[in-house]
Amino acid sequence: MGLHIENLRKEFGKLVAVKDLSLKVETGEFVSLLGPSGCGKSTTLNMIAGLLYPTSGSIFIDDVLVNELPPRDRKIGLVFQNYAVFNHMTVHDNLAFGLKIRKTPKNEIDKRIKEVAEFLRIGDVLDKRAGGLRLDQLQRVAIGRSMIVKPSLFLLDEPLSNLDAALRAVMRVELKKMQKELKQTVVYVTHDQLEAMTMSERIAVMNKGELQQYDTPSVIYNHPKNQFVANFIGSPSMNFIDCSFAEKDGKAFLDAGVFSLDITEFHEIVKAQATSSELILAIRPEDVKIMNQPSMDEAIETSVYMVEPIGVKTIVTMPIGNRMFKALAAGGFRAAIGDRKWIAFQRPKVHIIDKKTGSVVV
Ligand SMILES: Nc1ncnc2c1ncn2[C@@H]1O[C@H](COP(=O)(O)OP(=O)(O)OP(=O)(O)O)[C@@H](O)[C@H]1O
Ligand SMILES: [Mg+2]
Repeated sequence: MGLHIENLRKEFGKLVAVKDLSLKVETGEFVSLLGPSGCGKSTTLNMIAGLLYPTSGSIFIDDVLVNELPPRDRKIGLVFQNYAVFNHMTVHDNLAFGLKIRKTPKNEIDKRIKEVAEFLRIGDVLDKRAGGLRLDQLQRVAIGRSMIVKPSLFLLDEPLSNLDAALRAVMRVELKKMQKELKQTVVYVTHDQLEAMTMSERIAVMNKGELQQYDTPSVIYNHPKNQFVANFIGSPSMNFIDCSFAEKDGKAFLDAGVFSLDITEFHEIVKAQATSSELILAIRPEDVKIMNQPSMDEAIETSVYMVEPIGVKTIVTMPIGNRMFKALAAGGFRAAIGDRKWIAFQRPKVHIIDKKTGSVVV
């Protein structure tokens, strides 16, 4: 049940927009397709919806191979960024549209409209023309139009990107709540990591048409599989420092030139898995500690380049070697530009990446 995609591929001439993508979405699961612009999210969604024909591969919805089925026979609901609501029609008639096409009896149509309108809190605008609505109301109508036919699979392509930040936050919560209550299977396309992280049970991170990692938000965040995922997820982004692998007196080190980090505990795994001695040390800004004194053995001396208070936290930028390094300090952190500081890494949070392959080794 749910959605099952196997080796899905889409070529536009020479361009491979989606490259042999395989993915399973369980019934009732909320899955996001997340990645930068042009990575193939919409192309994937449009193939699932039946709006684009795959070059190769299979799509199963509720265990039925749907490759040859037109969109209306796929038991899907579709919501796009640009609403696709009929502006000249009332909200009521917009909601009724899909049911009328399916020749649903009038009393059943009225009952469902009442339920959906209540659920989406648009009961008070049912008689208004859609063209006169606020953006968020319009978006609710678009969602209502799709959910009213009780689709097996709900497909949404950046549905919130036209809304301002505050409304986006409200709609994010409401969409997620609706999905949970209805146990609706959802595939949600977004390039916004915050949306993907907050709403999804699992995230499929894509880049250049290829699936990079498919896992829960927590695994994606804490155990990225490669440098692309490590860099794409998290704000401010992870820090990366080029290092070389060094061995001395039975110990192993990441040698960054300006400092050296003892990684003897990972000696075997790095030796076995790294394809060369070129490694990258990766660490999230929140896992970097700033100190006024070199109170730990491994403290690295630096100075404050910039301080950016963002309310609950403060982003502090400091040079390490020839790279800028970011740390996330407490909201109350204050320092002057040029202040001398020492930083240290929370050791369990340090990742080691194979520079040649981009794979995360530790
Ligand atoms: N009909 C088409 N003809 C030719 N190329 C296309 C077509 N549709 C998409 N592409 C190309 O395929 C690639 C993937 O596009 P797609 O729209 O799936 O990306 P996306 O991840 O949805 O990006 P965005 O976040 O900008 O919406 C892009 O390089 C795009 O230019
Ligand atoms: Mg798109």
